[in-house]
Amino acid sequence: MTIRIVRQASTTVASQWLVVGVFEKNGELAPELRGTPAEALCGRLIAQKELNGSLGELTALHGLAGFEVPSVLLVGLGTRNKFDALAAYTAGVALAKRLAGKPRDSVAVSLASLLDGGHSKLASALIEGVIVGQRSAGLRKSEPNRHTFGRLDVVLPAETTDEAAAAVEALVARAEIVGQAVNLARDLVNTPPSEKPPGVLAAWVGKHAADAGIDVQIWDEAKIREERFGGLLAVAAGSDEPPAFVVLEYRKGGEAPTLALVGKGVTFDSGGLSLKPSASMEDMKSDMTGAAVVAATMQAIARLGLAVNVVGYLAITENMTGGRAMKLGDVLTMRNGKTVEVLNTDAEGRLILADALSYAAESRPARILDLATLTGACMVGLGPKIAGLFSNDEVFTHELLESCGRTGERAWEMPFDDDFKDQLKSNVADLKNVGGKWGGAITAAKFLEEFTASIPWIHLDIAGPSWNDGDSSTRDVGGTGCFVRTLTTHLESIASTRVS
Ligand code: BES
Ligand code: MN
Ligand code: ZN
Repeated sequence: MTIRIVRQASTTVASQWLVVGVFEKNGELAPELRGTPAEALCGRLIAQKELNGSLGELTALHGLAGFEVPSVLLVGLGTRNKFDALAAYTAGVALAKRLAGKPRDSVAVSLASLLDGGHSKLASALIEGVIVGQRSAGLRKSEPNRHTFGRLDVVLPAETTDEAAAAVEALVARAEIVGQAVNLARDLVNTPPSEKPPGVLAAWVGKHAADAGIDVQIWDEAKIREERFGGLLAVAAGSDEPPAFVVLEYRKGGEAPTLALVGKGVTFDSGGLSLKPSASMEDMKSDMTGAAVVAATMQAIARLGLAVNVVGYLAITENMTGGRAMKLGDVLTMRNGKTVEVLNTDAEGRLILADALSYAAESRPARILDLATLTGACMVGLGPKIAGLFSNDEVFTHELLESCGRTGERAWEMPFDDDFKDQLKSNVADLKNVGGKWGGAITAAKFLEEFTASIPWIHLDIAGPSWNDGDSSTRDVGGTGCFVRTLTTHLESIASTRVS
């Protein structure tokens, strides 16, 4: 898809479709429509309550008098005073989902309503949504159910100054990179589990990273053993597929502090001998979302050329039930020397993250952030759309939540008191890998904390937001690529606030 920025009156746009945003309430008409013959028609539709501009509402108008374009799609933006990055992204996804249902040579999206309301910063979020909405979870359908637009024209009012147009052009270029990174994470998650065994997934993310100019190291099983990753080896033992560990290094930040990003990469979580029931296993190809999001974020920041230092660590394995599978009661010696009694093989994520966190911490980064589809308990507490945030550092937490606010991706800080650690006492080892019945997301995070060497750290439990159970007009079913947008935004703000 090629993207062009054009400055002209909407009435003269000559593509297959023109998309116009409409705010909700008091019949406020999009500026593109004011003074055109469409004004009366839209007024009637609003009066008849056929059109109200609620977020994601889609109204197709064909053969509109006064417009050169054969078809206009009105997309609801919700109320003007609630229009934020989440609303802009949602509207973008909705319009693209709808129009990408068939092959289209050219789609024009008018941003006049955004510029009119001083919302131009949100143009990026909207275009990110347009990129994401053109891609579906239907990766292996024999007839594709989504078709990327041949050309996307971003339409600005004819009188837009060169300066304003250049600013929008930069936002759109950024949005394309970020949207493509979200789609990379989604594609990796939506890929069937048997097509992405650890070695294959590691090679893919390595290739994507290398193409973006990132330094890549891929460890095989022998190297993982040599490095004493007892948790990763134990989880992998039940699988015929060897584990992999990937280190992605991006250093364009000179002397700036380093952020370590750690991702859980379980390509399929059967639960191991503590086997999951079938229904709970259905979407466990998504248990590598953390790793996918780290790889995708790093692709985005490298393509954006951000002046930051980031190192990604991806712990990748299957969790299976083979004859050599770890058993309940087994004791593992982890990378940092701590011993762990395994009392539930389905609490595997913390075992592989423990080694990855310890290893990341050895390089003494300024901060560590891990992303993991870690616990069902987190979804019990926060529902399916909000990530649990656990941290030992208030400043880091504040900054990350601020970045969440800028994209509309949701995270909620959870209690993290030390007494939760009591649940992890083992009779035979330093720790056991499960706590009791209550507060399971917190005890999982407390387990991870044992491996962070007191470095400022955030753990995001993304079990809920990583995956969407049902399709809708504004959201695709399957992998979501959650937090690629937020982490990229976070790193952009680090790059811009640094005094160099
Ligand atoms: N990958 C799962 C967590 C999960 C559950 C992610 C549902 C997405 C949706 C994780 O490995 C797991 O199985 N956690 C256990 C921990 C328990 C055994 C302490 C869980 O949540 O049941
Ligand atoms: Mn599990
Ligand atoms: Zn898991």
